[in-house]
Amino acid sequence: MIPLARPLLGPAETEAVQAVLQSGMLVQGERVAAFEDALGQRVGRCFAVAVSSGTSALVLGLEALGVSAGDEVLCPALTWPSPAHAIRLLGATPVLVDVDADDWNGAPSAYASARGPNTKLAIVIDQFGNPVRRAQLEDVLGGLPILEDAACALGSHFDGSACGSFGAISTLSFHPRKVLTTGEGGACLTDDPELAAHLRALRNHGQSAPGEFFEAAGNHRLTELAAAIGLGQLARLDTMVEERIRLAKRYAQALAAKCPELRLQGTPAGARTNHQTLGVRLPDGTPRAEVIRRMHDREVGAGLLSYSLSRLPHLGCEAAVTPVADALADHGLALPLFEGMTMDQVDEVVAALKHTLGTP
Ligand SMILES: Cc1ncc(COP(=O)(O)O)c(C=O)c1O
Repeated sequence: MIPLARPLLGPAETEAVQAVLQSGMLVQGERVAAFEDALGQRVGRCFAVAVSSGTSALVLGLEALGVSAGDEVLCPALTWPSPAHAIRLLGATPVLVDVDADDWNGAPSAYASARGPNTKLAIVIDQFGNPVRRAQLEDVLGGLPILEDAACALGSHFDGSACGSFGAISTLSFHPRKVLTTGEGGACLTDDPELAAHLRALRNHGQSAPGEFFEAAGNHRLTELAAAIGLGQLARLDTMVEERIRLAKRYAQALAAKCPELRLQGTPAGARTNHQTLGVRLPDGTPRAEVIRRMHDREVGAGLLSYSLSRLPHLGCEAAVTPVADALADHGLALPLFEGMTMDQVDEVVAALKHTLGTP
């Protein structure tokens, strides 16, 4: 089976985890602090606050930026539901923004029209690692606070600025489907020392210093074991991204030759994407579930690409008009891409897809 994704964990991570186990210090030790320093340097941010997941990072980031009941928060419609869940968990309302048909990120014009008098801030997402068009978003958002959800985008950049360095706070995920994994994990990044201090308190029972509690908060800490894995992964980030870029290039060539009817995510000029997910849009009318089943029969792990949040009734956003996100949610297919994948495997996936699509 060619899997959809597979994290590459090397001897560096194994040795680092063993060292933590032997130290007996499983939480709140030096590795989390070292991982935070390394992340901040990597992304070009003054402060990184490591947490237990990308979803926790979103909840804490929004809370630190003052989102609360009655607020509206702009959120791209095409995504894993975490950003909208974070908004709802704080009692606020997600206002969905349709995505651009080419780059699959929240369309700047859709942000402009979704904004209203109760809009507190805008979440922007570098979807599947593809960098958002910062300048255009800043133009249309005109000073509205921004939270960049860079969950998928560590290692991507646009005109020299790393994803994860945009907005008042940016967030990362280290789930195994991401380019860099710590098992579970995430981080908030910011340049503001007060926000950083608030985020540190919010992740640790609302303490500003040991035993000094100033607000009710949960436990969102990252473990030392996870941070040790993250440090090992971070040292290889560029190599991992370069490999993914080579594989994605091969996909683009093979798909153009064999399945020209499929559309790939467009990357803006001047941007480097880490290709966290290799997605294609199937032509309208293609039975995607059947395509996935037949790909599995041919031992290729294809899956659905993402979700349209206006289709998830529990979010209460059914009235949103998001035709592009809906179409990508219906016709988007994720194909295998992982470090250690061979070019022959890429060709095998494309051959399986061509065969599958050509079969009535
Ligand atoms: C855009 C986006 N934000 C947030 C998350 C949540 O990250 P985690 O799974 O680490 O909670 C994901 C996960 O897939 C995501 O794709």
